[in-house]
Amino acid sequence: MDITISKLKEEDLGTLVSWAEDEKTMLQWCGPVFDYPLTVEQLKEYYSETERPEPKRIIYKAVDVNGNIAGICELGAIDRRNGIASLCRIFVDKNFRGKGIAEMMIRKMINFAFSELNIKRIELNVYTYNTPAFKCYEKLGFVREGMKRKITKYNNEYWDGYFYALLKEDWKA
Ligand SMILES: CC(C)(COP(=O)(O)OP(=O)(O)OC[C@H]1O[C@@H](n2cnc3c(N)ncnc32)[C@H](O)[C@@H]1OP(=O)(O)O)[C@@H](O)C(=O)NCCC(=O)NCCS
Repeated sequence: MDITISKLKEEDLGTLVSWAEDEKTMLQWCGPVFDYPLTVEQLKEYYSETERPEPKRIIYKAVDVNGNIAGICELGAIDRRNGIASLCRIFVDKNFRGKGIAEMMIRKMINFAFSELNIKRIELNVYTYNTPAFKCYEKLGFVREGMKRKITKYNNEYWDGYFYALLKEDWKA
């Protein structure tokens, strides 16, 4: 599939709002970061970090030949002093899943982090029930380091989360 990867722009935020179609989808994708329903207003504040010098957050988008945004992925909590960052808020539009788009975006982000940002360790969190997501991270070489119990409340249930990391020395670009 012909996909281009570039930085997310402020005018793309409306597409992200359309993906948060219900609270569960938003929580699974973003963690307990935004209030449901998601709004462009909330995302503008979140996005503004990407525009600072030495940002703590970088967001990529995948775009198809017709200009449709197929997905996004974020490198957040960028800690340049310790060389650590977190991969988060990865989402692929339902119409584009299963075509290798998440893998493509994440590979590009990992290469950037290890080669341009001097990052040595990339971490991520994923809910334990989210098999498509953690299979994708495992395929890329992320190692499960543990599990945190009951980290997010959704209605009357609590979700557990795995935490994973990838070290620079284990990454083959
Ligand atoms: C998780 C998600 C980002 C995967 O996106 P995708 O573009 O469909 O994934 P890819 O096509 O790049 O798949 C890469 C690998 O992930 C794994 N994978 C993807 N979908 C899978 C599924 N439904 N079941 C099992 N493994 C799956 C496979 O290992 C796959 O490699 P393979 O095709 O060689 O087997 C997508 O399902 C999504 O947006 N989910 C909703 C949001 C979300 O939960 N985000 C993660 C938050 S932590």
